[in-house]
Amino acid sequence: MESPYSEKVVELFKNPKNVGEIENPDGKAKEGSPACGDMVKLFISVDEETKKITNIKFNSYGCASNIATGSIITEMAKGKTIDEAKKITWEEAAEELGGLPDIKAHCSVLAADALHEAIRDYEERHGIGKGEKPTTEEVVRERLKHVMNPLTGIDVVDSELVESIDLEDGTVSIKVDLAEDHQFAPALKEDIEEKLTVRQDVEKINIDFQG
Ligand code: FES
Repeated sequence: MESPYSEKVVELFKNPKNVGEIENPDGKAKEGSPACGDMVKLFISVDEETKKITNIKFNSYGCASNIATGSIITEMAKGKTIDEAKKITWEEAAEELGGLPDIKAHCSVLAADALHEAIRDYEERHGIGKGEKPTTEEVVRERLKHVMNPLTGIDVVDSELVESIDLEDGTVSIKVDLAEDHQFAPALKEDIEEKLTVRQDVEKINIDFQG
């Protein structure tokens, strides 16, 4: 039977480049795909002066297409400035792979999202780019759209797990519609905190579980 995958996808699935983690990265991301529930982690080191990505690694907990896209997109981003790397799209990565079957497009979207999120994480830690904007309810909501609800595989905002967001003097208070002793509560708390602590003007995060 003819393979739906290009030779390049098969080759990079077998021998992916840039796999692993970076200790003390300058930016990192953990993204989940609402389409399939798979996950990818991506880490970057950035030169403070030139803003070039000097090192980049990823770990995929996804399928062959995701591993191949993670490999190609990290190769494409390495050596680029963060502004250049931000412009790399999932379509370009898929094209570089010689195409992906339509039902596998989301695997490439997941890898591109992880790259863009790791850059965003870097910017937020350094108060540049998107990190320059003051934290508003809208910003918090947007950040929480990158936290997956483990019960549904959809983000915590769209799955209506987040009941309310309040902001006051650098303190973000979030009400979550889940019991405090739920098995997923600690991981969810960690994910939410991770997305918000990097913001320069957030001093405290209160997460109130009330399911
Ligand atoms: Fe989940 Fe490809 S099917 S990342």
